[in-house]
Amino acid sequence: MTHHLGPVVKVSDKLREMLNNAIAREIQVSIQYMWQHIQVVGVKGVAVQGKFKETAITEMKHAEKIAERLWYLEGTPTTKPAPIEVGKSLKEFLELDVKAEVEAIEMYRAIIEMANKEGDVTTAFIFKEILEDEEEHHDLFTTMLEEV
Ligand SMILES: [Fe+2]
Ligand SMILES: [Fe+2]
Repeated sequence: MTHHLGPVVKVSDKLREMLNNAIAREIQVSIQYMWQHIQVVGVKGVAVQGKFKETAITEMKHAEKIAERLWYLEGTPTTKPAPIEVGKSLKEFLELDVKAEVEAIEMYRAIIEMANKEGDVTTAFIFKEILEDEEEHHDLFTTMLEEV
């Protein structure tokens, strides 16, 4: 006889809260980068405009992926973004974006560590994949910032 007993893995409220903070951050940057894509100005801006859009879409996919995992772990995904900072010039956009990616990298390393500690290897694995994307974004924005 089978019963529905919830997820195979039981995690702490703390880890669920960390996942929700990650979702808030992903929603934040997906809007932040998309609005930068729209508000970009100048020749240099136009050259990199597509990168903002592309990255914004990746961030929304991250939000979905994390929300799916949190839902499985019996948490309710937040709908509220972390504070969005678009900026006023291309240089400012990129400075804000580098900052956001550094925050993500630190946050996701902590989540991987916590998930491993709680035996939730799947969450750890999901965040390792996302972390790889964030490191790429950090590299992209840092490189773009050098050219501005
Ligand atoms: Fe992301
Ligand atoms: Fe990112």
